[in-house]
Amino acid sequence: MSTTQVLSRRSVGRGALVTVAAAAAGFIVARNSSVGTGRSLTAQANAAGPAGTGGRRLAAVSDVPPASGIIIADAQIVLTRDPSGTIQGLSAVCTHQGCAVSSIEGTTIICPCHGSHFDTRTGRPTHGPATAPLPKVSVAVRDGAVFSG
Ligand code: FES
Repeated sequence: MSTTQVLSRRSVGRGALVTVAAAAAGFIVARNSSVGTGRSLTAQANAAGPAGTGGRRLAAVSDVPPASGIIIADAQIVLTRDPSGTIQGLSAVCTHQGCAVSSIEGTTIICPCHGSHFDTRTGRPTHGPATAPLPKVSVAVRDGAVFSG
């Protein structure tokens, strides 16, 4: 084995060590970053404006029927309103196999794919095959309208 080959192997070994150290540093930075953590992108989080004034306008509050709800299909959000007037957002993606829920009858949100039903008040399934509730989605009410949070 020549000196050149030994140096070459040492160089490769150092290169591998540097690569591993860089990967570890990248992992640590990524782990402590908010990117890719699933945190919602609010106006405050993305510096697009002051907190509480961002988000997309989804509907007028008056569009959301009491003790029922409406589906905002392109936002994949169900807006519901309880009898006291409180608005909440739920995901419109069925927890069974990911179809979009398609209709609401009274307090029942209906998935057309396999017939799951969810309660507008809680998002919980009232009829399978879905067993998990529709996740809550952050929404904000201001100036008579509902905005994505
Ligand atoms: S995807 Fe909704 S019931 Fe199957």
